[in-house]
Amino acid sequence: MTAQPRKIIIDTDPGQDDAVAILLALASPDELEVLGITAVAGNVPLALTQKNARIVCELAGKPQTRVFAGCDKPMVRPLVTAENVHGKTGLDGPQMADPTMPLQEAHAVDFIIDTLRREAPHSVTLCPLGPLTNIATAMQRAPDIIPRIRQIVLMGGAYFEVGNVTPAAEFNIYVDPQAAQIVFGSGVPLVVMPLDVTHKALTTRARIEAFRNLGTEPGRMVAEWTDFFERFDMQKYGSEGAPLHDPCVIAYLIDPSLFEGRHVNVEIETQSELTMGMTVADWWGVTKRPANALFIGDLDADRFYALLTERIGRL
Ligand code: RIB
Ligand code: CA
Repeated sequence: MTAQPRKIIIDTDPGQDDAVAILLALASPDELEVLGITAVAGNVPLALTQKNARIVCELAGKPQTRVFAGCDKPMVRPLVTAENVHGKTGLDGPQMADPTMPLQEAHAVDFIIDTLRREAPHSVTLCPLGPLTNIATAMQRAPDIIPRIRQIVLMGGAYFEVGNVTPAAEFNIYVDPQAAQIVFGSGVPLVVMPLDVTHKALTTRARIEAFRNLGTEPGRMVAEWTDFFERFDMQKYGSEGAPLHDPCVIAYLIDPSLFEGRHVNVEIETQSELTMGMTVADWWGVTKRPANALFIGDLDADRFYALLTERIGRL
């Protein structure tokens, strides 16, 4: 008897890599039931992330997907965006038509709270792909939902790979470190996809051509998004391609055997401006702080891209 698809909420700031993650999730209905997509301010402002989320759902041929707009700025700090990486629309690369599917009326935080209260305990997994503002705000406003969350699988943080927006911090955590501190301190089982693993999920010419050679609109879009997205990282790191960060979260839910990690304690720096937003991972167990996260450090990149290409080819 095949298992029921896993119920998930994707919290996201599209962003080309978020867009690929959303396509992967919507292409995998046997494994994943997307209860809703909640947009948050991050790569670009909220007005664009909620619009981009709807563009991607329509590209996937799933206009019935419920998309909600959430928080338009971090809990405490001013919003920092990343147009330098993602372009002014957040989905630069190909020309994209405006979405026609509706944005849901409810606020994303209310949707997260109501869904966790309605669904069976430990049946819903949260998949944050951007700053953790929506998730932490929901936890703060309705602490009763915390024990009801099955798991949080998020993209964020860095340890051996160090930061990508400051020398110490990765973008998603840096934008809203107070939110990250709430989530990492919540006691909810966490799986963290830091730069340590996403920087091993690099695009290459062959991998991008495999998307283009699907001969489908989603395949063409993914190829054009990654063509655009990779220029920044290749220039910065001198690498062969760009890291596809956010699809690692969805791929983990589909096939966790692609990844390897270690249960460690991870704390968030929220005091020092020098290291603000750093994920301090006790990888070698030198403190007595309890492990609160499965911190992923490696993946099988060939199998990861094979899964991505095969699934996006289904759309
Ligand atoms: O640091 C990478 C993360 O920041 C990714 O989620 C990317 O989409 C941006 O949000
Ligand atoms: Ca993102």
